[in-house]
Amino acid sequence: MTDRYAVIGHPIAHSKSPQIHAAFAAQTGQDLVYEAILCEPEALKSRILEFRDQGGRGMNITLPFKQEVMGLATEQSPAVRLAGAANTLIFSKTQIIAHNTDGLGLVRDLEVNLQFPLAGKSVLLLGAGGASYGVVGPLLAAAVSALVVVNRTQDKARGLVDSFSHFSGSIALSTLSHGDLMESSRRFDVVINATSAGLSGQMLALPKNIFSPGALAYDMVYGRETIFMAFARAQAVQVADGLGMLVEQAAEAFYLWRGLRPQSGPVINELRRQEAG
Ligand code: ATR
Repeated sequence: MTDRYAVIGHPIAHSKSPQIHAAFAAQTGQDLVYEAILCEPEALKSRILEFRDQGGRGMNITLPFKQEVMGLATEQSPAVRLAGAANTLIFSKTQIIAHNTDGLGLVRDLEVNLQFPLAGKSVLLLGAGGASYGVVGPLLAAAVSALVVVNRTQDKARGLVDSFSHFSGSIALSTLSHGDLMESSRRFDVVINATSAGLSGQMLALPKNIFSPGALAYDMVYGRETIFMAFARAQAVQVADGLGMLVEQAAEAFYLWRGLRPQSGPVINELRRQEAG
């Protein structure tokens, strides 16, 4: 029997997840269908349980439900507890297990696709919202040397740093005010934009000398050139958008569901080709 999966969100029409999972299924010969479900916020719980009761095997959760869905889980992975959010559910008759593959997706895109090993690297993370919470655990687990969080509202950056302090071990996890960052002469090997600022066409100003030689600038947004990406290009550093992260978080979810690791490279290339076309 064909196994059913879905992504649920609001809005959902833009989601590339059905295309990505269909490509993974074709590649690995798995008998499954994957649909997109538009859900009003008040119907989240009933819609997920309905999908499960109709035989659904798993779900991806996207905005704005990644936090709320945690309440439905009978079991939460360590990544979910750290991030305070889930993007993947696995269903059985009695259990709903919640995972979060976003951060692993970022780390795999950086280390495998972009060939940028993170161990020993200094990282500047811009933003302290849900997107940042999702990636801090896996960045720390990748043994970066330092992780500095800068956010427009510094209190939120402090809250993020506090909530991961028990997990940072010997890694220097800290926050700087935006003003201090502008005055600082610190340079970073990786600068990651996890703010939604690129979507509104604004962003925090950054000092021109923020990048170490050979640095990478990574924007979690995909499908458009953000101000952050344009800024980084002007500093002649390597620039990447979040399309690879999107495909890698899907690959991790697929692996959790099916026990098989699909090849993400051909799927990333196909999405890039469509974007260019
Ligand atoms: P998400 O869950 O997608 O991360 P969020 O929780 O709304 O979304 O967080 C958005 C992030 O982008 C926050 O860090 C936000 O900064 P504030 O905490 O100060 O609100 C940041 N952000 C959004 N618009 C911004 C802008 N125009 N300039 C700088 N930062 C911005």
